[in-house]
Amino acid sequence: MISFIRSGIELPRPRPAPRSTQADSSQASSWQASSRQASSRQASSGQADRGRSGVAVTRKLWPSERQAFLDHLLRLDPDTRRQRFGSSVNDGFLIRYAETTFGVGGLVYAYLEDDIVRGAAELRGPDDARDRRAEAAFSVEAGWRQRGIGSALFASLIRAAGNRRVSVLDIVCLPHNQAMRNLAAKFDVEVTLQPDGITGSLRIDRPSVASLAAEAVDDMVGIAAAALAAQKRAWRRLQGGDRAA
Ligand SMILES: CC(C)(COP(=O)(O)OP(=O)(O)OC[C@H]1O[C@@H](n2cnc3c(N)ncnc32)[C@H](O)[C@@H]1OP(=O)(O)O)[C@@H](O)C(=O)NCCC(=O)NCCS
Repeated sequence: MISFIRSGIELPRPRPAPRSTQADSSQASSWQASSRQASSRQASSGQADRGRSGVAVTRKLWPSERQAFLDHLLRLDPDTRRQRFGSSVNDGFLIRYAETTFGVGGLVYAYLEDDIVRGAAELRGPDDARDRRAEAAFSVEAGWRQRGIGSALFASLIRAAGNRRVSVLDIVCLPHNQAMRNLAAKFDVEVTLQPDGITGSLRIDRPSVASLAAEAVDDMVGIAAAALAAQKRAWRRLQGGDRAA
């Protein structure tokens, strides 16, 4: 069965010209899906829709969902792990990494299908409230790419960063990572080529009443979805336990 939840929040439109990006509802209303995105499902924050294999939603992950985030990281193939972390990393590294994810200034938006995380965008830092710089990192599982998921996650992360008064969002990727370069270009990230990779910076606008309200509304939907997912997990465990008894 397919459920459909819509918060009324649309994705902000990536701007055609550089400078800063504010993910508020005025931009949201001007969002026009690209033809590719229009032909597939839009993974807008706070909405659930039919994904590749079931109910799909893009929402914030909560610290209690760390395991779902870790499971996503562990599913990443070696090449994706290298793209995401800049070098080859093993499962042990990912387990330790996931432990630090929901720390100070840490936040994750995820694309979930049937409560399984298939894509994630992380905001890392700032560690210090006076620091206005944070880093963004992305991972979409191989079978789920080029469907607008990375773009939807990026839009949510920009809004969240602005709402936390982050003024510059940094991105780091390997030089040949064309997918990340194109994703960054959609959001007017100013990119610099370094000897060992590419760094990008995006200036983020200050929060507005609309951007704060939009995140709050999305969170309400997200909390309900997370609670439902937890209930389903508990129910499945109970059924498994009953069978074993
Ligand atoms: C980078 C990544 C997050 C993009 O996710 P995605 O869900 O495929 O992104 P989208 O579908 O929203 O596509 C965003 C843009 O990038 C382009 N793009 C995506 N994959 C591409 C590819 N393999 N080659 C060229 N362009 C690509 C898309 O065409 C799109 O631009 P458009 O809307 O103008 O067509 C994904 O490829 C990924 O997880 N890569 C491995 C991890 C990684 O590299 N992380 C970055 C370092 S932190």
